[in-house]
Amino acid sequence: MRRSLTLIAAAATLGLTLAGCGGSGQAPADSAAPASEATGEVGVFTWWADGSEKAGLDALVDVFKADYPGLTFDNLAVAGGAGSQAKSVLAAQLKAGTPPDSFQAHAGAELQDYIDADQLEDLTGFYAENKLTDQFPKDLVDRLTVDGKIYSVPSNIHRSNVVWANVEVLKKAGVDPNKPADSLEGWFADMDKIKASGKTPLAVAGTWTQTQLFENVLLSSLGVDGYNGLWDGQTDWKGADVTKAIEAYKKTLSYTNSDRDSLSDWAPATQLVEDGAAAYNLMGDWAEAKFAQDGKKAGSDYSYFPMPGTAGVFNFLADSFTLPVGAPNPAGAKAWLSTIGSAEGQTAFNKVKGSIPANTTAKTDDFSDYQKSAIKDFSQDKIVSSLAHGAAVPVAWLNELSTAVSKFGGDGNVAALQDAAAATAEKFAK
Ligand code: GAL
Repeated sequence: MRRSLTLIAAAATLGLTLAGCGGSGQAPADSAAPASEATGEVGVFTWWADGSEKAGLDALVDVFKADYPGLTFDNLAVAGGAGSQAKSVLAAQLKAGTPPDSFQAHAGAELQDYIDADQLEDLTGFYAENKLTDQFPKDLVDRLTVDGKIYSVPSNIHRSNVVWANVEVLKKAGVDPNKPADSLEGWFADMDKIKASGKTPLAVAGTWTQTQLFENVLLSSLGVDGYNGLWDGQTDWKGADVTKAIEAYKKTLSYTNSDRDSLSDWAPATQLVEDGAAAYNLMGDWAEAKFAQDGKKAGSDYSYFPMPGTAGVFNFLADSFTLPVGAPNPAGAKAWLSTIGSAEGQTAFNKVKGSIPANTTAKTDDFSDYQKSAIKDFSQDKIVSSLAHGAAVPVAWLNELSTAVSKFGGDGNVAALQDAAAATAEKFAK
């Protein structure tokens, strides 16, 4: 008995030592060190590399620099919306034992992957020290809590089921911008009119934006319970209602720009709406930040409404920041996390990012009308988890399903997508 305890203790010490090395040959860092003792550089990994997303990050970094003048922020961003490139780069760094000081991860299933792999430090004590637990919505804290422990600090809450529209394009096609469709059928009828006017009805870009469109057609078509059931095993992926939903997705895709796969990311698709080349773009509300950054006015230049058939539902995702096991500068990471969690940090960041603060004490008086409506909706809508943004399923499941969705964009084979999605669910559902 004593021998096995000694072995466990030795293994634990070894684990801590390896973790603390961070692969950089430095002395083991102490993850218990407080933020107030931090010095040096803090390397932060995100995918907010350009445009309005970088502007959001910069606003947060300004608060961080004011909070901690003695620390240097090292921007380790890897471009590619939704982490389409960043997540695999990060996985390689974590595997090699060279993590950044903090990285962006989606609240929900994606975060669970990192927790299961023992890649994250427990931040429960940090929450207690900074009195954070009561400052975040209970729903969100529950989604971040695993076996009573919290492993990340959320920076924001985004909504994925929003359609952004070009007001002039709608008017010219005879579609009333003040009366958005409330069902898929109504939306298809409006898109027929837009097509007849010579414009692209719906702008979309490459794979992850198509997956995001797919998730919202599923949500619209299957309803909240049917959609949730896709991820927890309650909805049969092989069922006739799912076939109908995939057919609706096929029809939705028929209204999109034919060059969708060559658009590098979400921003060029939103740009088509801004430029009046397309009427609609289904996009998470980081699009609000782009419209604002480009000087567009809600109401006259663009409008927004929930994905038809999903009013009263908030398709949720949240970015949150972690302290990886083996971070080179854990005290610096905690300083970063305390700025992120603070009301000031959240106000500065979210105002520019288009999202709403996760910290409910953050001031939002001068947020845009869209953001104020999102704050209200989040407080009263039914909340579901986004597929494309790591909330609903683990990364491996998302990747496999995204490959099938992307293939479907080429062949339009409903049965093949349904079979692939069912097989994937069977493989990954717990
Ligand atoms: C999401 C992320 C958002 C935004 C978006 C587009 O996954 O949570 O903050 O960055 O991707 O890149």
